[in-house]
Amino acid sequence: MVKAVKYTCAFVGILFKIFPYSLALTSKYSYRGQPQNTWKELALLHDLQHISLLLLELHVFGRCHFPIFLILKLGKSSLAFVLSTVLSVTSQTFAGQRCDCSEHDMPKDRTISRLRGELHRFQEQIRKSEATKQPQKQPAKPTIFVITPTYARLVQKAELTRLSQTFLHVPQLHWIVVEDSPHKTPLVTDLMVKSGLTYTHLHMPTAKDRKLLENGNSPPQGDPSWLKPRGVEQRNEGLRWLREDRRAHPGGDNQQGVVYFADDDNTYSLQIFDEMRSTQRVSVWPVGLVGGMKYERPVVEGGKVVRFHTGWRPSRPFPMDMAGFALSLKLVLANPEACFDGDAPMGFLESSFLQGLVTMDELEPKADNCSKVLVWHTRTEKPKMKREEALQAQGLGSDHGVEV
Ligand code: UGA
Ligand code: MN
Repeated sequence: MVKAVKYTCAFVGILFKIFPYSLALTSKYSYRGQPQNTWKELALLHDLQHISLLLLELHVFGRCHFPIFLILKLGKSSLAFVLSTVLSVTSQTFAGQRCDCSEHDMPKDRTISRLRGELHRFQEQIRKSEATKQPQKQPAKPTIFVITPTYARLVQKAELTRLSQTFLHVPQLHWIVVEDSPHKTPLVTDLMVKSGLTYTHLHMPTAKDRKLLENGNSPPQGDPSWLKPRGVEQRNEGLRWLREDRRAHPGGDNQQGVVYFADDDNTYSLQIFDEMRSTQRVSVWPVGLVGGMKYERPVVEGGKVVRFHTGWRPSRPFPMDMAGFALSLKLVLANPEACFDGDAPMGFLESSFLQGLVTMDELEPKADNCSKVLVWHTRTEKPKMKREEALQAQGLGSDHGVEV
């Protein structure tokens, strides 16, 4: 009986000695959220046990035959003291160390761990629900065919760069660029190639007799050095290519699409392309900074265009700027003769094209019933070259090899 008590005491003594270390190891590697002073607490606990239980062990192992104490008994009893002291010193050393597992450090880290777990669960749920979903077929957006006349001048590259970079943000856009030139120029060719857009590059020179009119009449709109409207042959060439190209494709006539005439110097909001994409026949909207006004626009009543807000000849059939309307590809294909009349009087160019295609009643108002300006008839100032010319006279002009 006495023996059994002694054995039990010895066994419990050993357990108590081992316990702090095993607890410490477990907490270090697998416990979550242990306070950082774990090691200190364990060391203190160990010291108390060390004093009380060492005495008990020493008393017991002198007589018992428990294997570990046999080893100690074979040596000197002081070996037990040495062993215990080593254990104590080790635990003290650990107590001085900060737990290197940063997740144990702060309560906020516990929150982060918990939230991470929740996030992971939600992500899994989403992944599973998406995997079970049937892929939905989006109806293809109608392509917007943008026809842009352009001509060589100092600001051409700047204008086309700005325009192309706007178009890059518009999905399903096909840019038809028509150079007012007897041939395609390297500047435009290179710009188109590098633009990243779907494009067609064409050229069509303006007839000489229609171009510059030195000190000519000053028409009410546009450049005073011009008598006739600009960009006419180029837009018509764009329309010709479009009709021919669509016919070449099977089912070309039925293709959903929108046609828009975008001059190279205007400013286009991305929203205007969203607005025009749903065009059934001819859609219309306001144009800012045009015709000597803050804006021109169709006036909408009861969802219909009833007249036009314009400062000049409101009696024109369609007193609108080129930037203020788009038409469906179907309408363009169904009316193969429809084109711009280069001989139309100034301000009647848009009307010359639209009057055979649509009536005012049929116009589809966009941009919140024509209450929002989403395109601006901006015009770029002609750069002054006085200094360049002065330097050129001295043979010190800018390098011709640098494309501007
Ligand atoms: C206004 C209208 O906004 C134009 O749509 C219209 O063609 C023009 O008047 C007109 O009827 O003359 P505005 O700013 O005065 O526009 O004209 P520009 O922007 O100088 O020219 C319109 C387009 O034609 C531009 O894309 C321009 O690059 C092009 N253009 C101009 C040529 O292709 N060749 C030229 O010699 C001049
Ligand atoms: Mn312009």
